[in-house]
Amino acid sequence: MTAAVLSETVAPGVFQITMNRPDRKNALDRASYVGLIEAFAAAEADPQVRAILITGAGGCFTSGNDIRDFAASAGDGARIAMDFLTSISTATKPVVAAVEGFAVGIGTTMLLHCDLAFAGDKAVFRMPFVALGLSPEGASSYLLPLVAGSKRAAELLMLAEPFGPQAALEAGLLNVVVAEGAALAAALDKAKALAALPPQSVALTKLLLKRGHAASIAETIATEGRHFGERLRSEEAQAAFAAFLKR
Ligand code: COA
Repeated sequence: MTAAVLSETVAPGVFQITMNRPDRKNALDRASYVGLIEAFAAAEADPQVRAILITGAGGCFTSGNDIRDFAASAGDGARIAMDFLTSISTATKPVVAAVEGFAVGIGTTMLLHCDLAFAGDKAVFRMPFVALGLSPEGASSYLLPLVAGSKRAAELLMLAEPFGPQAALEAGLLNVVVAEGAALAAALDKAKALAALPPQSVALTKLLLKRGHAASIAETIATEGRHFGERLRSEEAQAAFAAFLKR
């Protein structure tokens, strides 16, 4: 069986993690989260790794949590996703994202935890939590108002509509929008640049950039996770999952 997450060193010091369920638009099921958590742990543990590059296979970042897993969960379906969010939000090494195609749900919120993010100009972002009867995750209810402003955060989280890369750039989710198909090369270029810099200085700079919000991010991930678990069991959410699955 093909692994749901691939990881390999793609350049000196650059560890690429690829979400790999292209026939499901890289929807993240339990095996995907386990693979992501293990890959981030491997990157942290290996002194040769100086930058982490995260991307998706088949011209798609990720369609977010696997809705089949959500529909089948007894309310604890989000726990492993929260564990992954903790991994990415506490990574001490720089994390660079390359986005093409869809970045839905956690595919968008994980970008709030990446240090740099690049997207192709046909990428589509969405935080559909409210439309699915759910609630925000990934500390997005805390970080999005900070980076995007409260009005834009309310628009993106409460209306739950899809948005394009220019809006994602303006909302502070991206560094640069590049031509479709060029996000991975742009991200790899900057990951290589990070990997060539003094690693302790890079790590310290990341720590200093993040430390002011670290406790609030951890607290928000936990609080959002409790609400999210309750919402998963709600009639609103179960009806939305059923509607998606019987399209
Ligand atoms: N969970 C489970 N399966 C998913 C999925 C998800 N999050 N996203 C896509 N898939 C499946 C589809 O059911 C479809 O399966 P099928 O070939 O057996 O019918 C396959 O992946 C391809 O997706 P499809 O919907 O045909 O692709 P598209 O290009 O028309 O649309 C999306 C892509 C991402 C817009 C659409 O699939 C979608 O809205 N997915 C759900 C996103 C979501 O709400 N995620 C949860 C966030 S909390």
